Amino acid sequence: MRIDPHSYTDDRHAHVRSLAWEARVDFPTRTLLATATLHFDEPSSGALDLDTRALHITRVTDDRGAAVPFELHAAEDILGSRLSLSLPDSTRSVSIEYRTAPDASALQWLDPAQTAGGKHPYLFSQCQAIHARSVVPLQDTPQRRITFTAALTVPSALRGLMAAAFDGREERGDVAVERWHMPQPIAPYLFAFAVGELASRELGARSRVWAEPSVVDGAAWEFAEVDGMLAAGESLFGPYAWDRFDILVMPPSFPYGGMENPRLTFVTPTLLAGDRSQVRVIAHELAHAWSGNLVTNAHAGHFWLNEGWTRYAELRMVEVLEGQDTAALVAAICRKDLDETVARFLAEGHGGLTRLRTHLEGIDPDEAFSVVPYDKGELFLRAIETAVGRERFDRFARRYLETFRFGAVTTEAFLEFTERELPGVLASVDAPRWIDGEGMPDNAPTARSARLDAVIAMGDALPDAGTRLSTTEWNLWLERLPRPQPPAYCASLDERFGFTSTGNMEVKVAWLRLALASAYDPVLPEVSRVLGAVGRMKYLVPLYSALLARPETQRLARETFERNAAGYHPIARAVVRGRIERAST
Ligand code: BES
Ligand code: ZN
Repeated sequence: MRIDPHSYTDDRHAHVRSLAWEARVDFPTRTLLATATLHFDEPSSGALDLDTRALHITRVTDDRGAAVPFELHAAEDILGSRLSLSLPDSTRSVSIEYRTAPDASALQWLDPAQTAGGKHPYLFSQCQAIHARSVVPLQDTPQRRITFTAALTVPSALRGLMAAAFDGREERGDVAVERWHMPQPIAPYLFAFAVGELASRELGARSRVWAEPSVVDGAAWEFAEVDGMLAAGESLFGPYAWDRFDILVMPPSFPYGGMENPRLTFVTPTLLAGDRSQVRVIAHELAHAWSGNLVTNAHAGHFWLNEGWTRYAELRMVEVLEGQDTAALVAAICRKDLDETVARFLAEGHGGLTRLRTHLEGIDPDEAFSVVPYDKGELFLRAIETAVGRERFDRFARRYLETFRFGAVTTEAFLEFTERELPGVLASVDAPRWIDGEGMPDNAPTARSARLDAVIAMGDALPDAGTRLSTTEWNLWLERLPRPQPPAYCASLDERFGFTSTGNMEVKVAWLRLALASAYDPVLPEVSRVLGAVGRMKYLVPLYSALLARPETQRLARETFERNAAGYHPIARAVVRGRIERAST
């Protein structure tokens, strides 16, 4: 039987336990020439279905060197192509020789012009949610964890990095072979690597930051507080299980704020605001070391167990590092975004996506992605915390992580565990309403703080020119401002506070959204500049949506997309294209 709506993995088939991966990175053809050797947990025989997408398979052999019959089925839209192997009796491992497609959905191949240095090409992977299969044929479900070894052959001018432990580099003329291993079993969506011109700086005993040479010093300054975050994480959730916590600052086209690849978190360069105001993204990715990487969701329908727990932990860490005042501001920003998202889903007939437990059969997880699992999930956990008190909740959280360590959890398993550990609490917070109900329950807790009250009290009056607010406060104030605002108001705001030219992307994008919703057109050149300069979906999607919402700016949206699409990450490109196509029907 299939165990995950987004994978061909069948529970009657062999379990892949570990992967030995050898890959040559070929920039001219944008392909990986690779061999994946899959080791089973016990000698196996018969059918084995693997996930693949756009892989060209050349040969499959068993551990005795004999050819293994295989069939690569026609591609399905979301899942990709099922690769069916027929394992001979007592097969311990199979080796699959293959190459990836130049448009592999997990990979972005960048021209030198798309990097900060401008001299060398760059390659990176992004496998969550279901893109690992476009890089390695495997059982691409979080319910099948693997350890791995890897040998990556890269041009000798470049450096490869993997979310794994480094074993060494060997120069071989114009290429170099770099070796890695991952001792802790990971879900396939956490398989990750990057190749480019990279340098590093030490941040602490367990962490360093990697980036292109021109960016690395700024990055080291921005993330200097990482040791304090590790300490905050460990004090909440127990010892850090992944040995190292390194950070890789990606090129601007990286489609996410951050990605919690184990041992090596990938982050967008838009975090380099020069004011350490975006460290909560690091706190979030670090929190995944526990919620997600140690205890993951069994499939995309239970995604809230990953992101809801992680948002909860992120806010707890912000509270430890920056105080309850700031944590309440962040919570208010999240709540605003959640309410808007829920309202939009309900209005568009996608009420199902406002539940915590979702039904995503036939739906691409990238399309279903939203803040609902993050923030509705966080508020559900917060409601439980409020009901039982923080001390009991913290003990419960630790027991949860211990119980499901290196496992994959369903919502049902979470509920059963919670009922056992905290009898009665689910009924007292009306859990079914949170889990399977649409929209927001009215018992959602609200964070309060003096600074939050002060920002709310500012209302929509034009702030005095001397007003000084933190990034988080501006962000919240701008998000809460009713729209449209008159052009003269927008002009004065920008004149006083220089939002159009700020280097802080959170503030800038909050401002640009307000301006676009107010039809304040002087910002249009900056909007199209931003859309060409960054690929973070959190910025692309709202800006494109705002342009598409007005007939006068729809053409600009289309033209901007045409001009920049080739530089966007394949996932971002597909998501934005979807918005554009829906807007024109
Ligand atoms: N794991 C996610 C990113 C992700 C989710 C990638 C789903 C692919 C599919 C990561 O931990 C995340 O949530 N990043 C956020 C930052 C955060 C502070 C909420 C982001 O990218 O904005
Ligand atoms: Zn996350």
